[in-house]
Amino acid sequence: MANSETRRPIRSFVRRAGRMTASQQRALEELWPDYGIKPGTGPIDLALAFGRAAPCVLEIGFGNGDSLVQLAQHDPASNFLGIEVHEPGVGHCMIAARAAAITNLKLIVHDAIEILESHIAPASLHRINLYFPDPWPKKRHHKRRIVQPEFVELCASRLGRNGTLHIATDWANYAEHIDGVLAGSPVFICREKREHDGEAPLDRPATKFERRGGRLGHRIWDWRFQKIDL
Ligand SMILES: C[S@@+](CC[C@H](N)C(=O)[O-])C[C@H]1O[C@@H](n2cnc3c(N)ncnc32)[C@H](O)[C@@H]1O
Repeated sequence: MANSETRRPIRSFVRRAGRMTASQQRALEELWPDYGIKPGTGPIDLALAFGRAAPCVLEIGFGNGDSLVQLAQHDPASNFLGIEVHEPGVGHCMIAARAAAITNLKLIVHDAIEILESHIAPASLHRINLYFPDPWPKKRHHKRRIVQPEFVELCASRLGRNGTLHIATDWANYAEHIDGVLAGSPVFICREKREHDGEAPLDRPATKFERRGGRLGHRIWDWRFQKIDL
């Protein structure tokens, strides 16, 4: 019988076999010392990892990282931390970061939930970005959606005072789910919500998955939630 130690957790991702190009593989090896963080035990010392203390913006599931690199480039005063499980995307992101000579970006290849739980200290983040999380459209898979009450609580605990949680999706049913989960959160208040056709992203560049959704005729929903003091 499964017990709490042997039961597999419900993950918000499946590891896609996705082809890794030779240059992505090389980037993962050669650029790892510049951009990679492998957490040890306990919380990461973010100031030490980035070589400076600065507000830290976390992006969960950055895909190929193009929008993460643009955000880091346009806000050199902040530290940007990206977490992604899809290794070809991490390699792609490192290549783009190197090409743009970015120095305020670090990447972790692991389940973001485990990293938040065990390796990000409470109140250490300024902002969390969750752009186009896997929609898990089938009803029986809705439990895999990363936006759940426990996840929202975890995000709140890792954000500092007045920290913000930014979410975007192109799935109408996930948008309803996100509204429902966040409406039930006593810690977040919705400061801005936009529904658009890709022409008005909220405080972020367009992403690869967003453009794909646009080609399929999907609407886009963007939110900015702020942590409030209870
Ligand atoms: C639909 S894609 C969106 C990628 C990107 N944000 C964009 O908009 O182009 C969702 C991404 O989240 C990643 N992901 C899902 N769950 C994750 C988790 N728990 N930890 C880290 N990455 C995760 C997946 O590997 C995938 O690359």
